[in-house]
Amino acid sequence: MANNRTFTMIKPDAVENGHIGGILAQINAAGFRIVAMKMTRLSSEKAGEFYAVHKERPFYGELVEFMSSGHIVAAILEKANAVEDFRKLIGATNPANAEEGTIRKKYAESVGRNAVHGSDSDENAEIEGNFFFSGLEKF
Ligand code: RTP
Ligand code: MG
Repeated sequence: MANNRTFTMIKPDAVENGHIGGILAQINAAGFRIVAMKMTRLSSEKAGEFYAVHKERPFYGELVEFMSSGHIVAAILEKANAVEDFRKLIGATNPANAEEGTIRKKYAESVGRNAVHGSDSDENAEIEGNFFFSGLEKF
């Protein structure tokens, strides 16, 4: 299965703005299969743990506050070359630099409130998927 799965979250801004359906439709149209999915809310402790790799960055506090500010939709997605293809589908971190037609170009508000998360490596996709889902929740 290596190479075939990635992990995503629809972030609080996109959930609040009513974009769950639009984003999932675009993910499906791009050929990703949903392996696991849930709507939930991160405590600030859990958000801090999820983004611990960014602990030393100046935006860490803001990121943790934002990611725990509302509901998120977490999902594991499957497709050949999943990590790289999904990063292409979501576009650049800052929507101002994202290509036309990408999820962030369409739905993100700013570099901080940027609509979706996408894993950056196969290893992190596995770790992040396991952060949210048990074996019984993956199909
Ligand atoms: P993500 O992990 O959420 O998929 O985003 P990414 O790989 O494109 O970007 P990353 O460098 O991992 O940053 C994680 C999240 O931190 C917020 N951020 N804010 N204010 C800023 O300059 C800044 N830079 C990053 C974004 O929400 C970014 O998605
Ligand atoms: Mg990242």
